[in-house]
Amino acid sequence: MEVSSEIYEENDYGSVTIANGNVISKYRFNKPTTTLDERNELQHDNESDIIVKRKKNEFIEIEHKKSSILSEVGLQLWRGAFLLNDFILNNPDMFLDKNVLELGSGVGITSIVASMYSKKVLCTDINIGGILDLIRRNVLLNDHYQKYRNNIEIHELDFFADRWSNELEKALADIDICFVADVIYDDDISIGFIKTILKLFKLSPKLKEMYIALEKRYVFTDCVVAPMYEFFMKKFSQETAGILKYNEMSTSFKQYFDYEKCKELVLIKVNRI
Ligand SMILES: C[S@@+](CC[C@H](N)C(=O)[O-])C[C@H]1O[C@@H](n2cnc3c(N)ncnc32)[C@H](O)[C@@H]1O
Repeated sequence: MEVSSEIYEENDYGSVTIANGNVISKYRFNKPTTTLDERNELQHDNESDIIVKRKKNEFIEIEHKKSSILSEVGLQLWRGAFLLNDFILNNPDMFLDKNVLELGSGVGITSIVASMYSKKVLCTDINIGGILDLIRRNVLLNDHYQKYRNNIEIHELDFFADRWSNELEKALADIDICFVADVIYDDDISIGFIKTILKLFKLSPKLKEMYIALEKRYVFTDCVVAPMYEFFMKKFSQETAGILKYNEMSTSFKQYFDYEKCKELVLIKVNRI
């Protein structure tokens, strides 16, 4: 059974089909500056007044599929990724000199946005349907945004792996912030994801915050429920009791990308107790 992300019904991203059957779309946004950029780039006119620079309209180009089988949903883009992108663009200073991890990165757009401000980004997913190669191509398509050049590392990280490679574990031990979008759509994956959250907070002493974006998928029967979200939250509370806490954040921050920021889109912050 094929599934499709709804974002393409809501917006025109100028998608063009390429030789391998995938499409390349353009996601426009306004890139904010960091306080560091401002200090380095402030210019003054002859009367010592600051010259205000106009914001440029920028875009990220992404190769992706427009539909896929369920096990290959990472080859598409989902709304949660846009919510994380907006969160990062609203808080660029938070990433200066930080090592960032993204889990279940899909096409890699959030890692590309994070790489504009952070020291290093570990962009990870399972390697199904050529996801890791797709991320590599997308990073190359947008490499002008990598502030330090080559600051995105791509690794396979499977929630169900018994052990991760030494190279990956070494890199994970140094992360400060973790992002995850839209991986709560299957109860088995949620169990693996919670196991992974606990492993990461144990392995990475500097890891203070994890941000999880998800879209509550409602089921309308006698009563309205979001079963996968409810399963995840219940399991998370049971498995992480006494170790981690979470809170649902306000998502009323500025929107930089074009997508429907629907009320089902939620941002959860996890940190240590
Ligand atoms: C709905 S997609 C979201 C992709 C991307 N974060 C976004 O929002 O556009 C779900 C992601 O979870 C990943 N995923 C599924 N099972 C996984 C596992 N066992 N370990 C790690 N990632 C997994 C998929 O490959 C896919 O990239």
